[in-house]
Amino acid sequence: MKIIASAPGNIFLFGEHASVYGYPAIIASVDRRTTVELTGILGNNISLHSELGTIEAELKDGKLINEVISNPELEIIYFFMKQTVENFSVKSGFRVEVKSQIPVGSGMSSSTAVLCSLFGALTTFAGKSIDHQDYFDYIFPIQRQIHGGSASGNEIISSSLGGFNYIKKEGDDVKKAQLGNVELNVVIADSLIKSPTKNTVAFHVPSLIKRRKDDVFAKFDEIGRIVDEAVILLSKERIVKEEEKQLGNLINLNQDVLDKLYLSHPKLDDCIDEARNAGALGAKLSGSGWGGIMFALVKSAYEDKVKSRMEATGAKVFATKTGVEGVIVKIEN
Ligand code: MEV
Repeated sequence: MKIIASAPGNIFLFGEHASVYGYPAIIASVDRRTTVELTGILGNNISLHSELGTIEAELKDGKLINEVISNPELEIIYFFMKQTVENFSVKSGFRVEVKSQIPVGSGMSSSTAVLCSLFGALTTFAGKSIDHQDYFDYIFPIQRQIHGGSASGNEIISSSLGGFNYIKKEGDDVKKAQLGNVELNVVIADSLIKSPTKNTVAFHVPSLIKRRKDDVFAKFDEIGRIVDEAVILLSKERIVKEEEKQLGNLINLNQDVLDKLYLSHPKLDDCIDEARNAGALGAKLSGSGWGGIMFALVKSAYEDKVKSRMEATGAKVFATKTGVEGVIVKIEN
């Protein structure tokens, strides 16, 4: 039996960081996916193979034991795999191949896409069909660990459900709404500056809050207001030219606030300036900041020009679609 499960990466159109503190965000799935191919095998051996390395272990009396993990970065994936295998009573060995179109550590939620696709493959292998709405509950504790203790979990909702999502997390309560299906052209640049989410989420922002609490929360309030305006635009069936411009302006405003919170990076700033000067409607970083990715909202007529000006900064640039399908699981016998 072979199971092929995939999940998309994401961009934060609006609201990263503030979202960790209960403010709303709008996040969009993008057409770059991680695919997990799980093949059932005879016996009790399990293995996972990815560009980061391999995991090998044995399944004994319903437990995973004797693990050998070639790269410490895979330890958290093993922990999640063990938990899922044991909780869902996987009965026999398997081999997993992970392939990803999402650059690792770039802020496009590569780790979330791995967790969502792995969860889809393992639970299907265990004979269970888990509603995509429920993926959040199983994956959120692990994401919190990956982010160093605090996380909004927004990427899990986006990767599992797909589309555009408005999300506001208040304590354990998650308010979420799928927004419309407005077609947005985005050009994404990977700055190639590796930026583990932990650095800004677990250290920089908490340190800033400790020193300048009122100022930081006033800026989060501003982000909240930007999100509220953007929701109105993105809930429409289609948006007209003037509204597209407004959306671009809101993206720029959100970037200004992130910049004032010292979350940008000179390389991201180069890409953002180049994109805006080449005619993008708006441009901002997405995700953790201090490196990783940024995106530009463009009209298709400007796409090539914006792309080549962003490339001139030395970043890795690609145009992609937003609002794609969430987790997809297929079974091949
Ligand atoms: C990280 O990709 C996005 C942040 O808002 C953290 C989170 O939402 O968990 C910085």
